[in-house]
Amino acid sequence: MSETTKITVLDNGPFLVAGSFVVTDAVGQPYHADREQIALCRCGRSSGSPFCDGTHAKIGFSATERAVPQVQD
Ligand code: FES
Repeated sequence: MSETTKITVLDNGPFLVAGSFVVTDAVGQPYHADREQIALCRCGRSSGSPFCDGTHAKIGFSATERAVPQVQD
């Protein structure tokens, strides 16, 4: 049975990840993240990377991409 993982792109902020997930580095070593929801840094300035530490708000990070509606044929 699979559990859904939800990733939410916050306006001017991190990616919120909720559900069942494992976060690893580039060689597959897991980060300790035993919570049901985490925030992954999107601004590149967190001192706790890959997790968001709130720095995005202090530096005025701006990235408000929104999902583009899919066109039906
Ligand atoms: S997105 Fe929050 S510190 Fe980078």
